[in-house]
Amino acid sequence: MLCGYKGAVRGNRPGAIRHAFSYHAYSFPYTALENNALFPAKASGTLQKLYHDRLWRAKRWARQPRERQLSAPANGTAPRFVPIRGERDIGQEVRTADEIFDNERAFLLQQGSAASLPLPDASVDFIVTDPPYYDNVQYSDLAAFFRVWLPRLISEKQNAACEWRYDQSQAAVDSFQNGSDQYGRVLGQIFAECGRVLKPEGRLIFTFHHWKPQSWAALTLALKGAGFRLVNRYAVHSENPISVHVANLRAITDDAILVLAPAEAGVHGDWSRPAHIDKSASRQFCRDCAALLGWMLAQEMAEREVRRVWRVALKEG
Ligand SMILES: C[S@@+](CC[C@H](N)C(=O)[O-])C[C@H]1O[C@@H](n2cnc3c(N)ncnc32)[C@H](O)[C@@H]1O
Repeated sequence: MLCGYKGAVRGNRPGAIRHAFSYHAYSFPYTALENNALFPAKASGTLQKLYHDRLWRAKRWARQPRERQLSAPANGTAPRFVPIRGERDIGQEVRTADEIFDNERAFLLQQGSAASLPLPDASVDFIVTDPPYYDNVQYSDLAAFFRVWLPRLISEKQNAACEWRYDQSQAAVDSFQNGSDQYGRVLGQIFAECGRVLKPEGRLIFTFHHWKPQSWAALTLALKGAGFRLVNRYAVHSENPISVHVANLRAITDDAILVLAPAEAGVHGDWSRPAHIDKSASRQFCRDCAALLGWMLAQEMAEREVRRVWRVALKEG
């Protein structure tokens, strides 16, 4: 079961792609690469390999975070990284929200829906998040698999500390695809909660992309309902094009990074409605969709109109 998808999709040149792209996958690794996950020699899908590639590298990064240089490397060469001087990704775990504010570099881990955050009003400077991209990945279905066997592998004490029940109506992605606009409803609740905890000068930042007008309409309505305005937007290279999520799906290879502020802060970009959104160029598509989002957030518009404008912009009716 170990990370089989990596070798499986890369075919017979396992090392070829890893240096050029980073993975951003939540796939169910259904193809075992090694018969023996404990095999001690160098191989592509063993526990040892997993430990070095994921845990050890993550730990090293935390001690000395680094970032990728923006300038593109010459064709075929590995990207260059530069250390972020003075930065360490290390902190102290605390148990209550109060302790976050009383300590430096403290973090609190919570399991549950982001529609309810254990934080006081107007207490947060930045919310940097990564919501589901509408219906792209069925997270609940994928996670259900782990809920079956994980309880059998951990200790009784650990088991007791975990919440194994799972209310699917709280998940942003609608597993049942029953047209109830679960995505819009849950995202609306989450953004409203973000608006409550953000300081007036705070920012909500996240990435998004999708071809479907319904997805952009749901996002627009959720942000509108929570009273956000678009301050800025960027488009950056996103999902590895050979990822199992996007292979064969005419994937968008860029993400829009959206930077939003509470409307009452009075800080926003000057967005105009793009005359035409070209679906053939992924990066420009993301930039234009974000601009249209920014324009719509600044307009008085009924829900029907929001949906219609997106359908027309993305040429669906
Ligand atoms: C795009 S993924 C984030 C992936 C993450 N950035 C990573 O690299 O692993 C979106 C996540 O939102 C989670 N999610 C769905 N509904 C949620 C909710 N109501 N509250 C918090 N998270 C939710 C999904 O389970 C999924 O893990």
